[in-house]
Amino acid sequence: DPNELKKIVSHAKEYGYVFPSSEIYDGLSATYDYGQYGAELKQNIRQYWWKAMVQMNENIVGIDASIFMHPTTWKASGHVDAFNDPMIDNKDSKKRYRADVLIEEHVAKIDAKINKEIEKAAGKFGDSFDEAQFRATNPRVLQNQEKIDAINARFKEDIEKENFEDLKLLIEELEISDPVSGSKNWTEVRQFNLMFSTELGSLADGASKIYLRPETAQGIFVNYLNVQKTGRMKLPFGIAQTGKAFRNEIIARQFIFRMREFEQMEMQFFIKPGTELEWYEIWKNKRMNWHKSLGLGEENYRFHDHLNLAHYANAACDIEFNFPMGFKELEGIHSRTDFDLKAHEEYSGKKLQYFDNEMEQSYVPYVVETSVGLDRLFLAILATAYTEETLEDGSERTVLKLPVQLAPVKAAVLPLINKDGLPEKAREIMDDLKFSVNVQYDGKDAIGRRYRRQDAIGTPFCITVDHQTLEDGTVTIRERDSMEQRRVAASEVSSIIEKAVDL
Ligand code: GAP
Repeated sequence: DPNELKKIVSHAKEYGYVFPSSEIYDGLSATYDYGQYGAELKQNIRQYWWKAMVQMNENIVGIDASIFMHPTTWKASGHVDAFNDPMIDNKDSKKRYRADVLIEEHVAKIDAKINKEIEKAAGKFGDSFDEAQFRATNPRVLQNQEKIDAINARFKEDIEKENFEDLKLLIEELEISDPVSGSKNWTEVRQFNLMFSTELGSLADGASKIYLRPETAQGIFVNYLNVQKTGRMKLPFGIAQTGKAFRNEIIARQFIFRMREFEQMEMQFFIKPGTELEWYEIWKNKRMNWHKSLGLGEENYRFHDHLNLAHYANAACDIEFNFPMGFKELEGIHSRTDFDLKAHEEYSGKKLQYFDNEMEQSYVPYVVETSVGLDRLFLAILATAYTEETLEDGSERTVLKLPVQLAPVKAAVLPLINKDGLPEKAREIMDDLKFSVNVQYDGKDAIGRRYRRQDAIGTPFCITVDHQTLEDGTVTIRERDSMEQRRVAASEVSSIIEKAVDL
């Protein structure tokens, strides 16, 4: 459903999960800010990953390397020479364009046609207009949507094959022109580096160009001997890290799926040469099982094995997730051989060998990496959690059925009315709970509306304090997904919630 992503984007904004970045200046494309609930959810996902990788594995430790690295790092890693996307110049206006941005512009025009059709129909049918139904059945809308899909698919294939001749033809065929000069006179397609660069140091003494890291992995490679020695690590061992990465990416109109500034959660596993394919299989399966344990539905995952391998890999695959836009990459698992460490040895002139006590011999370890985008995982979780329900009484509710252990707010404490000592009692319960879980107090509006608000945020439990509470010390606890309510002793609330949270 093409509408699904739209609904999620607007829900995320309305309920403090994700805002467009710099919105008061009309936003900045492909950048987003996480709001009060989004930041909590993101933090919980990060911790959940860290726990599975670092805490649960004796031979994996975590580090936090800096975003800026010595510029030679990116020469050695191959990013300066090979981390590219196609670009094209307009001969008349002398302006430069990313080839993908031109395609994007063209697609946006078709998209505008679709939106016009929808607006027209909405005006005609008024309140009874069902946009999803219209999109799914209107021939003109369907035709235009097909056109967009075909253009995107062809464009993607061209870039993957580095077939820029085709891309050039495609651009001509699309009759895209420079928006200012109107010229359609383009140069050949050239390669454009995806790394952001900036300058380090005072300009007077010759500033040097440095890059914002396009992956967190290199911070781990250059530190592997520091960690191995200080942690007295023995092969096989892993180093994990979460942190921001930056890429001057395609503007993909897919919300937080593809951003210019995003967060990765990566783990590099250092192993004996020759064992890499064995470890590659092990990590492939471990990571898939971890994803499935989140409870988003096993049918929503699949492997996609890479046939065209990156310059550093001898085996690679993606774990794909069924996003609202279809199956797309969520995590990458790569057997990176000794490519990176060897390259860093060569460029730095420093030995990066490991002394194997059993074999009584030194060698450069091989590496299998697992790399998942935190923002993509956030989108997968949010999209799956988003549910619209029609209740028995005919009313509608929107609820985020987030995994309990990841929900930003675990419980809301609600006094039924704002008098008779109920708020005081509710505060007491809240003060008790807040030491162990994130709780919220809400005393405003009718109780039904407060429940709906918590449903929309994804709060798994609502604890309601009423007059009976004052008499017998019991409260009602309402469960988000089933909406079932039961009475329990107020003193039991914290253990019930802690047990549910620690699934
Ligand atoms: N160190 C290996 C590496 O960086 P990658 O496949 O380029 O591999 C790994 O990236 C993961 O990072 C992807 O599977 C995706 O989840 C996430 N990712 C990559 N580019 C992204 C972007 N522009 N926005 C959001 N997430 C991104």
